[in-house]
Amino acid sequence: MAKDVISKSTERDHPPLLVNEPSHLGKRRCRRTVQLLVLATFLGFWLRIIPFKWPSLSLRQGTVLPVDHVPDIGLPESLMRTWAQYAPYIPVAKYVPPPPMCTISQVHVLQRHGTRWPTSNAAAKCKSAVDKLKRVKDYEEDYLVFLKNFTWDLGENDLLPLGARQSFDAGVAAFDRYAHIVSNDNLPFVRAASSTRVVDSATNWTAGFNVASHNTIKASVDLILPESGNLTLDDNMCPNAGDGDAESERWLAIYAPPITRRLNLAAPGANLSNKDTYNLMSLCAFHSQATMTPSPFCGLFTPEEFRGFEYFGDVDKFYDNGHGGNLGRVRGVGYVNELLARLTGKPVRDNTQTNRTLDASPETFPLDRTLYADFSHDNTMVSIYSALGLFRQYLLPGQKLNPGDPSSLRTWILSNMVPFGGRMVVERLKCTRAAALPAAFIRILVNDAVQPLKFCGGVRGLCELHAFVESQWYSRHDGGGDFERCFD
Ligand SMILES: *[C@@H]1O[C@H](CO)[C@@H](O)[C@H](O)[C@H]1NC(C)=O
Ligand SMILES: *[C@@H]1O[C@H](CO)[C@@H](O)[C@H](O)[C@H]1NC(C)=O
Ligand SMILES: *[C@@H]1O[C@H](CO)[C@@H](O)[C@H](O)[C@H]1NC(C)=O
Ligand SMILES: *[C@@H]1O[C@H](CO)[C@@H](O)[C@H](O)[C@H]1NC(C)=O
Ligand SMILES: *[C@@H]1O[C@H](CO)[C@@H](O)[C@H](O)[C@H]1NC(C)=O
Repeated sequence: MAKDVISKSTERDHPPLLVNEPSHLGKRRCRRTVQLLVLATFLGFWLRIIPFKWPSLSLRQGTVLPVDHVPDIGLPESLMRTWAQYAPYIPVAKYVPPPPMCTISQVHVLQRHGTRWPTSNAAAKCKSAVDKLKRVKDYEEDYLVFLKNFTWDLGENDLLPLGARQSFDAGVAAFDRYAHIVSNDNLPFVRAASSTRVVDSATNWTAGFNVASHNTIKASVDLILPESGNLTLDDNMCPNAGDGDAESERWLAIYAPPITRRLNLAAPGANLSNKDTYNLMSLCAFHSQATMTPSPFCGLFTPEEFRGFEYFGDVDKFYDNGHGGNLGRVRGVGYVNELLARLTGKPVRDNTQTNRTLDASPETFPLDRTLYADFSHDNTMVSIYSALGLFRQYLLPGQKLNPGDPSSLRTWILSNMVPFGGRMVVERLKCTRAAALPAAFIRILVNDAVQPLKFCGGVRGLCELHAFVESQWYSRHDGGGDFERCFD
């Protein structure tokens, strides 16, 4: 029925056109091209001034990725990517192993829980918008008629089967890539924040990891960190942190009113607000991923309208946990300090969110492992990316997203950063350069896209480990006073 609604509605003068539109693809391609050009210019610059030469075109082809990349929901990938933080996991690039003169010596995975139901809070808002539409007796447009029969049967908070599957697949992919650095004497060390969906994602990940090893490896979740206490895998330890509401509402007031007007004409008396419109759009994402078919709610909107929805999420998190936030990145400092400890094999030095008791004990914070996996939430991961210096918006005025005007030059795109099941992987490498001793390097992949690491002088995404550690001044200084500002 859902597919029906969508195709029928394409004949009318309103929304649905759930196909890859050439103009949309064109814009994306244009954006990619600009990004590549900038990257190329940047790399060209560094390649000229660095004191040694990397062998040309040394990248090997990506190894196996045994699982489907794009979940089969019956909707175009381009549409699912406009769901911002509610997008399913879709890799941003094809995984490319490090150059041949490098070997991977240690890996750190930080992963968001997989696709879930809406949170209780969001579900209540979605249901209220649906109820407004359901109270209307006669719809003016066919694309609303399904509501007559629609009964609210959505869950709340918990992981969906798609989220469990994608977490499992991530464990499989991690084993396929990194099997050579683990053994039963050197198991992955796995931690999860205590929300059920996060713990379920972690256990599904370990299940996938073990199955991929034909159960020769028996990884399990080592530590569940209560979200009520000190922890680095949640962002709730900074009471004074602001939010992105002012900025995202500014954008809502621009993109949503024409949609709200159209829906209120189609459903006379519904009296939907712009926020209702936002919530109904989010239902397209949740409902489709729950049923694994295109939700009829998707048929209420055009792909262009979903691009407005996407930017709402981008702006909201940029000005909350991101670079634009008052006390955004400080909420990522604790994790970065743990990462630095693991990368350098030295005890954690942190006076922010870490649990000092746990981090001081080799039982609960070992430093001798080669693979670490931590499971968390989107907001926390955005803070961590920002604390690290990833996704700085060098090409935008003031390095800020303009809440009134989406720029095609922005790389701050949540579906590329923290979709459900989104992940950051830090690889520590041992690289041999011509006429030099082997040295430790790192590279960082976000959803398989190698990050340029401009902040530590990255060359083809590689930084020397000591330069990376140097670059993390903000975290090594507990946020340079920002953590105190969380409280006073
Ligand atoms: C509503 O549900 C009934 C029973 O399942 C079905 O016969 C009917 O066609 C549905 N109506 C619409 C508009 O989908
Ligand atoms: C995977 O997650 C689901 C929740 O969606 C949970 O019920 C199940 O126990 C998990 N499976 C494993 C192997 O942990
Ligand atoms: C730190 O961890 C210990 C051990 O799990 C726990 O008992 C304690 O409550 C935690 N402290 C805080 C402040 O979270
Ligand atoms: C429509 O909703 C707004 C709040 O969004 C409310 O202030 C107004 O009274 C409602 N109008 C009607 C006719 O129900
Ligand atoms: C929890 O964090 C606070 C703030 O940094 C700190 O004062 C306290 O000592 C920490 N407690 C533990 C057990 O680490």
